[in-house]
Amino acid sequence: MQNIVILGTGGTIAGTGQDPERSWQYKAAQLSVAQLVDAVPELRHVPLEAVQVAQVDSKDMSWAVWRELGRELQKHLAREDVAGVVITHGTDTLDETAYLLHRLVDGDKPVVLTAAMRPATALDADGPGNLRDAVRVVQEAAQRGLGGVVAVLHGRIWAGAQVRKACSSELDAFDGGGKPPLALVDDQGQWSNVVTPWPASGGAGWQVLASPLPRVEIITSHADADGWLVEAALAHARQNGPLKGLVLAGTGHGTLHKGLEAVLAHAAAQGVTIWRSSRVARGGVGSREGDVFAACGDLTPAQARVALVLYLLGV
Ligand code: SIN
Repeated sequence: MQNIVILGTGGTIAGTGQDPERSWQYKAAQLSVAQLVDAVPELRHVPLEAVQVAQVDSKDMSWAVWRELGRELQKHLAREDVAGVVITHGTDTLDETAYLLHRLVDGDKPVVLTAAMRPATALDADGPGNLRDAVRVVQEAAQRGLGGVVAVLHGRIWAGAQVRKACSSELDAFDGGGKPPLALVDDQGQWSNVVTPWPASGGAGWQVLASPLPRVEIITSHADADGWLVEAALAHARQNGPLKGLVLAGTGHGTLHKGLEAVLAHAAAQGVTIWRSSRVARGGVGSREGDVFAACGDLTPAQARVALVLYLLGV
């Protein structure tokens, strides 16, 4: 059981530009996952299979791509000769995909997402190193008997349920929302500061991805937030199909502008399920006595949207 499958979905890791010194001028999702593997000399003797699942800038991630990714993951994780899977992804919605997979993956093999902040043509391209590290983490995790969904970026292993993009420009762009990484990985593949066990995956399975996506939107609370967008969404839903859920990106510990709060009562009365997260980077929103809307714990608003979709689908 030593093969590793690399599923490509696009992102900046597969991006190219004209000028290596102007790393911000590029197009994401241009190189195939096979080309990404070929660019990493350290992977030459590792038994790898590269499979192109999608080729998207991850800002355009969709339920349809997740369905395809789930289909491939299910197929390869079930193979006895496969030790684990690496997924190359864009950084922008990596937190959502990682959380979704954390909830769905069943079994005990490692699933490692990786990405890059610079395109493959940049002088300081970080994709090859991240891909090398991700493959080594699958090998090492399989040897240590560790399974579950993690992300390997810039020499750190993050739990799939916690990882999030915390910086829009630096190579060291991810954190765990206040939680430490599960380990540091050096460029020889050695781990330090190891936290075990890894968080167990939810094991909900892949069937849920066959369902149509229930509409769940995110509403942010801010100065002057008076619920205008919520009213607009409810009016739109009356013509175009139901709004099933709202995730609130609240202030502080999930608090809401009183203007927004007043309108949310209309939405709840119309059967919309409403959950509260926070727009603050760390600390999340814990449940407290008297909560009107359920709290989303440590999840980012975008991860909470995934969680609410799964909840509405019965998972
Ligand atoms: C993307 O998310 O696909 C583009 C940005 C990135 O990967 O850093």
